[in-house]
Amino acid sequence: MESGQLSRAEALACTGCRHACHVMLFSDTKSQLFGQIPIRHIILMQMRFDGLLGFPGGFVNPSKESLEEGLSRELLEEIGVAVPILEENHVNSCYAPPSPSSSSSSSRLILHFYMKKMEEEQILDIERAAASTAVDHGHEVLGMVRVPLYQTKNGGGLSLFLSHSFIGNARLQLVDCLLRFGLIPAKHLHKALIQAET
Ligand code: APR
Ligand code: MG
Ligand code: MG
Repeated sequence: MESGQLSRAEALACTGCRHACHVMLFSDTKSQLFGQIPIRHIILMQMRFDGLLGFPGGFVNPSKESLEEGLSRELLEEIGVAVPILEENHVNSCYAPPSPSSSSSSSRLILHFYMKKMEEEQILDIERAAASTAVDHGHEVLGMVRVPLYQTKNGGGLSLFLSHSFIGNARLQLVDCLLRFGLIPAKHLHKALIQAET
């Protein structure tokens, strides 16, 4: 398959390919914005060194580590906690679109995406560690951010968040996971996507 999705096994069969793994870590929450707007889920993303929003994770080397071990190693560097990631957390794998800077001879990059549900207290621990003990804090990672899933009366919230610039296919990964795991009603997401375009 030249573009689109491929299975984890197909992806690993490409020995000449480079691999990168990223994960959406999230929890449920009962907390409310201004004591009235339900926040529903805490979803962690990060502001990267390049000014783009993305998910934590990075390049892994399947000849030295499993995809999931490599992702946990990246998480330790970027968020200060080696969150264990299992194969069952795998969501999808796909070829990265060729970037303008990559030459025709550079090996293809396969992107693997994972999703892991955690307890709210674990997410809070990660936010604390990401800003204190994570070695990449202030370097590759400028800070963790939460995704607002609500819309405020004056048009703020998810639609404005989706108007920012994202690395690679991170925006698509976010939208896909919100729908796939029912983290937001489909009609609310579609409305936010339309507002984000205007
Ligand atoms: N979030 C982040 N990156 C993504 C995503 C995503 N959701 N989806 C795809 N990518 C792609 C980007 O093109 C990115 O350059 O995966 C690539 C590798 O991911 P990084 O998180 O940037 O890799 P990492 O190992 O953490 O960083 C090491 O590589 O990105 C370069 O020079 C940069 O110093 C950095 C180094
Ligand atoms: Mg990294
Ligand atoms: Mg990274």
